Amino acid sequence: MKTHFKDPDYSSFTFSKLITFFFLLITVSYLFYSLRFVTHNYHCDENHHNPIILSHTKFQPFVEEFEESKSIPTNISHIVFGIGASAKLWKKRKEYIKLWWKPNQMRGIVWLEQKVKIDSNDENLLPLLKISEETTNFKYKNPKGHRSAIRISRIVSETVRLGMENVRWFVMGDDDTFFVAENLINVLKKYDHNQFYYIGSSSESHLQNIYFSYNMAYGGGGFAISYPLAVALEKMQDRCIQRYPGLYGSDDRIQACMAELGVPLTKEKGFHQFDVYGNLFGLLAAHPITPLVTLHHLDVVEPIFPNVSRVQALKRLTLPMNLDPAGLIQQSICYDKTRTWTISVSWGYAVQIFRGTFSAREMEMPARTFLNWYKRADYTAYPFNTRPVSRNVCQNPFIYYLSNVVYDENTNETASRYVRVQSNPDCKWKMEDPSQIKMVVVYKKPNPHLWDKSPRRNCCKVRNAKRKGTMVIDVGECREDEVVEL
Ligand SMILES: *[C@@H]1O[C@H](CO)[C@@H](O)[C@H](O)[C@H]1NC(C)=O
Ligand SMILES: *[C@@H]1O[C@H](CO)[C@@H](O)[C@H](O)[C@H]1NC(C)=O
Ligand SMILES: *[C@@H]1O[C@H](CO)[C@@H](O)[C@H](O)[C@H]1NC(C)=O
Repeated sequence: MKTHFKDPDYSSFTFSKLITFFFLLITVSYLFYSLRFVTHNYHCDENHHNPIILSHTKFQPFVEEFEESKSIPTNISHIVFGIGASAKLWKKRKEYIKLWWKPNQMRGIVWLEQKVKIDSNDENLLPLLKISEETTNFKYKNPKGHRSAIRISRIVSETVRLGMENVRWFVMGDDDTFFVAENLINVLKKYDHNQFYYIGSSSESHLQNIYFSYNMAYGGGGFAISYPLAVALEKMQDRCIQRYPGLYGSDDRIQACMAELGVPLTKEKGFHQFDVYGNLFGLLAAHPITPLVTLHHLDVVEPIFPNVSRVQALKRLTLPMNLDPAGLIQQSICYDKTRTWTISVSWGYAVQIFRGTFSAREMEMPARTFLNWYKRADYTAYPFNTRPVSRNVCQNPFIYYLSNVVYDENTNETASRYVRVQSNPDCKWKMEDPSQIKMVVVYKKPNPHLWDKSPRRNCCKVRNAKRKGTMVIDVGECREDEVVEL
């Protein structure tokens, strides 16, 4: 540019002035333009308390408030649950909700299609009940599904329109979704709630994921939508739903609208749709190294503890859940060296003892104790690795299920006890027989910061037995150089 100014030619001089002016203009207008973005941010944040009227409030630079909202970690008060329910099943399903719902801490609404009988015993034990808006004006053309899908899908928008304050996340689930609230928070606090996030997980059935979408958060497994994304969805959802009358469910309708908004699914493996039949044991005993957030299809699968009802089984799981939620059902693997047994602890759920030595990579694979959602589909139809239940009776594990758990304030440790309820077939191997072990006791310090670090499996160690018939195991963070090896 400088060369131009030296140029004696008049027209060239004017030209360079013009260019300079032009650049100045661009710079200034860009400055104004970018300022708009900055102010828009404050603007959004200020409007946190007001979901619908996003575009016409006075603007003020709430820098401090914005920074503050970022630095306060997400807690249970920032979440609003939207539970899709039906009047017909309410009497049964409300029992599941009561197990995880914390009336004085949580906010949320159960959305029903019609009024239900209110049981006076349930008072203050359940979320608020509301009747969904009429949806007869919406087209529904799927031959296999049910049009209640439209009502359930619109729960997000209806919940947003309630205009609740200080909301960071809307979390959706079904009436048979069991939430582990602490872990839900552990997952959500990693993400910036001021941005667009759609968080959930796929199905355990590869075919389901093909028929619906690998980009879809399965509704029963539960999913979370950040506040600004829920607001954006609310603005367009009714128009969007009309464009997809042929879809089956409520969750694929949400995904269709997310695709229009251009927001992908952020996968978190702790949300469990559980599109399987039979016994969940294999999946729970080898949970991926991520916090357990939800369980679903509780009426479809067998009770998670044998010989008790489904509700009783889940109630038992709430005992360890309340003492050490971060560690709930987390697996650790170790060996009893003197007896050459492999031990797998699924904390708060079950302990398995295997004769012989299995590697960590085998033990972290779920055993196929469950059946595929599509009964004719075999093991190739899971989108993750599984291993067969061994046909050799000697290789079948001795399974000890949680019987109780207590917290010792002197040692700051939980002591969980596990007992065997099913017998194992006879085995001719000459090695020591685990049937001599009647009970397993696991000591573990609660670790609320487990998920603040990079994911790593806990380690376990078998203590030298003092009492015959009882195995004592310590579970905790791995020490330096501690690995799973014999
Ligand atoms: C959750 O965060 C809010 C700030 O948004 C704070 O006022 C409240 O005390 C926190 N609650 C808990 C249980 O930590
Ligand atoms: C528990 O159930 C199993 C089958 O799941 C059965 O074999 C066993 O006898 C039952 N045990 C008790 C104590 O009822
Ligand atoms: C248990 O925890 C308390 C409070 O965190 C601490 O003061 C105490 O020293 C701990 N005791 C043991 C045995 O670790």
